[in-house]
Amino acid sequence: MKTQPLFTSGNIGKVALKNRLAVAPMTRVTASEEGIAGDRMQAYYADFARGGFGLTISEGIYIDRKWSQTYAFQAGLTSAEQAAGWRKVTDAVHQQDGRIFAQIQHSGALSQGNYFLNGSVAPSAVRPTGQQMTFYRGEGEYPVPRELNDAEIQDIISSFADAAFCAVFEAGFDGVEIHGANGYLLDQFLTDYTNQRTDRWGGNIADRLQLSLAVIQAVRQRVGQEIPVGIRISQGKVNDFFHKWASGEEDVSVVFTLLAQSGIDYLHLTEFEAWQPAFPGNPLSLVELARKYAPQLTIMANGSLHDTSRARQVMDMGADFIALGRGALANHDWPKRIAAGEAGRVFDSAILGPIADIKDSELPL
Ligand SMILES: Cc1cc2nc3c(=O)[nH]c(=O)nc-3n(C[C@H](O)[C@H](O)[C@H](O)COP(=O)(O)O)c2cc1C
Repeated sequence: MKTQPLFTSGNIGKVALKNRLAVAPMTRVTASEEGIAGDRMQAYYADFARGGFGLTISEGIYIDRKWSQTYAFQAGLTSAEQAAGWRKVTDAVHQQDGRIFAQIQHSGALSQGNYFLNGSVAPSAVRPTGQQMTFYRGEGEYPVPRELNDAEIQDIISSFADAAFCAVFEAGFDGVEIHGANGYLLDQFLTDYTNQRTDRWGGNIADRLQLSLAVIQAVRQRVGQEIPVGIRISQGKVNDFFHKWASGEEDVSVVFTLLAQSGIDYLHLTEFEAWQPAFPGNPLSLVELARKYAPQLTIMANGSLHDTSRARQVMDMGADFIALGRGALANHDWPKRIAAGEAGRVFDSAILGPIADIKDSELPL
């Protein structure tokens, strides 16, 4: 079986990775109620590194003690105790010769569990579409969020930078991924129907990207040039699966051109099936469009790529790295299995029920 490109070494910024395979960020609500990562998370994360993944991206981690927390039992990066919890996780991954990036996240309107404060905040007071996720202990409609003011937005930018600093210099992560995807706060700013602002944070798609660009800049300033910084971008959302950017390739050209100039080290793109055309009436996938408008940028692709032929196809389209979500959950050792010519196990969603926390069966004996 020809699997070569997946197993060549590569770089994201100044960090060397032994292959092109990453574990996609996956929230598993297994921290303490106070947001501290514990033994189960150490064992779980180290297992992917043991299984051969060059890189693991952490679950989304909240960034402040205000409204960024999204789910109960989610881990944070907002205190020395939380950093110490993550430090044990990153040490365990490093001991298995793996690398791990922190995904830093603000929930915005999609918060369903917050240890610190009640309510939720967003670009505009628009009730999110869809229903809260029951496997993260949510129920029913999302509440209507409160509109953020400019000072609060500045505060959120600083909190992203503080959490990035804490991730790298206290918790020992090798890089930082800003969560700009899947319907959370930064994506709420980017999305036309959730951002109705008329100040500098709203308007056309370039205006709606300004908060993500400001966060990138602040994070970069805080962690310096040596540390990889990336952003995850998607069209679909956890609460609006089939959303498409309204102006198709025109929007893509604006977003990817600005991100290419932003100083990020990588762009993480997620689509349901990463090889599919991104827009009706246009044959190009999002990865191909990113290559077109951000030719120099390192691209990580995600979306149903656990079949090696699909993963290779998307690398041929221009992706440099492949991130696996469900494929990695079903096979913590996916890279070792595939390299040995073995088939991957099929993902069984029962592992995420009734609550999506880490199960005993996922932990090494
Ligand atoms: C249980 C679970 C939790 C997830 N949590 C996150 C998250 O914290 N951050 C994120 O960006 N994506 C999250 N995702 C999305 C995955 O990173 C990935 O995009 C999705 O599973 C599709 O990739 P796949 O087809 O390889 O599974 C999650 C997915 C699953 C299944």
